[in-house]
Amino acid sequence: MKNAYAPYSKFRVGSAVLTTTGKVFVGCNVENASYGMTNCAERTAIFSAVAQLGPKLELSAVAVVNDHGVPCSPCGACRQVIYEFGPDATIFFQGAKGEQQAHITQLLPEGFRLK
Ligand code: THU
Repeated sequence: MKNAYAPYSKFRVGSAVLTTTGKVFVGCNVENASYGMTNCAERTAIFSAVAQLGPKLELSAVAVVNDHGVPCSPCGACRQVIYEFGPDATIFFQGAKGEQQAHITQLLPEGFRLK
């Protein structure tokens, strides 16, 4: 979260992902003047894990935090990316009533798969 590049929203986000082999990778949001090119913290962490471990990545958990202390669950795009590597993953985030956890399929019913 401290490393976030968020000059536009000023909303710094950090994410940590846990692999099924017990490894942890972190990421932060990286914004862009062309707003739509922004990469969320969750996807940064997952893409970093793939870059370091290779394509067989399997996620068991994803956590997300922000520097405003406000409710923040993964966006729709990130849910789909989490589902790709962690169809049985548990997601930890700040919900409306504080710390919350949910199965990825609760956050993303009917996730898309090609295989
Ligand atoms: N953001 C994340 O990195 N993860 C989330 O779960 C929600 C939103 C980022 C994207 C953008 O840089 C900023 O937060 C405001 O939307």
